[in-house]
Amino acid sequence: MQTGLLSAERILKGSPVRQIGRRILILDSVSSTNDIAWGQAEQPDSDGLCVFAETQTAGRGRRGRTWQSGRGDSLLFSVLLRDRPLPADILTLASAVAVAESVAGQFPLHIQIKWPNDVLIEKKKICGILTESRNIRGRMCLVVGIGLNVNQSREFFLSLGLETPATSLAIETGQETDRNALAALILNSLDHWLSVCRYAPGEVGQVWKRYNRQIGSQIRILENQQEFSGTCIDIDPAKGLVVQLNHGPIRFFRAANCTVIPA
Ligand code: BTN
Repeated sequence: MQTGLLSAERILKGSPVRQIGRRILILDSVSSTNDIAWGQAEQPDSDGLCVFAETQTAGRGRRGRTWQSGRGDSLLFSVLLRDRPLPADILTLASAVAVAESVAGQFPLHIQIKWPNDVLIEKKKICGILTESRNIRGRMCLVVGIGLNVNQSREFFLSLGLETPATSLAIETGQETDRNALAALILNSLDHWLSVCRYAPGEVGQVWKRYNRQIGSQIRILENQQEFSGTCIDIDPAKGLVVQLNHGPIRFFRAANCTVIPA
């Protein structure tokens, strides 16, 4: 399903001036929007740049996975944060909150966040977030890459044969969504939540927990090929997932090193 093309003018229409999205680049087909954002990281005025693409030929996900997309049916974009010494973990949580709030504010859907970066509707993945960090000429730079399934059909996901069940807003609502309007909402929300990361990281964790159902439940985690099981008792924005192991002490799991395995 393909609706109107992405347009920087339409994304910026009616939006107040802000840091995230003060420059928007829209491309048709790229390897990965994260790569294009990294290519701009040496430019002094590039903080807040957002790179959108209609499709990616080598979209990447966490832990070496790929992110597949059709043309013109999702939001595939990356936000460049230049010279912001913030931990990638908290940025990922804040970005998931920004997406969850934007979608929940528009549609009467039951949105959840699965640690650390998956936004789900009824246990099916609608959005993934990949945060990368690099030191560029002594400056801490980050790229937050977001893939949100908007107008894909059920057949599209069936043809991919995914391990994790996925869905789109079109499947869940039965209607097409204007991607430009949704992108504008998400950029506004990211602008807010990425600045909250700086001065009130605890607030990010609190709102994140409202969307999460893992806390208090039994989970299995894979870390460096070793499996752990236990009860998830909390998330700590700086240290990660806090788990009371079934056969051991309380342990922290950092987002960069592990995956929660479906029960
Ligand atoms: C995951 O769930 O594993 C993260 C997926 C992140 C996908 C997005 S799509 C836009 C950006 N460019 C990429 O290559 N990846 C991210």
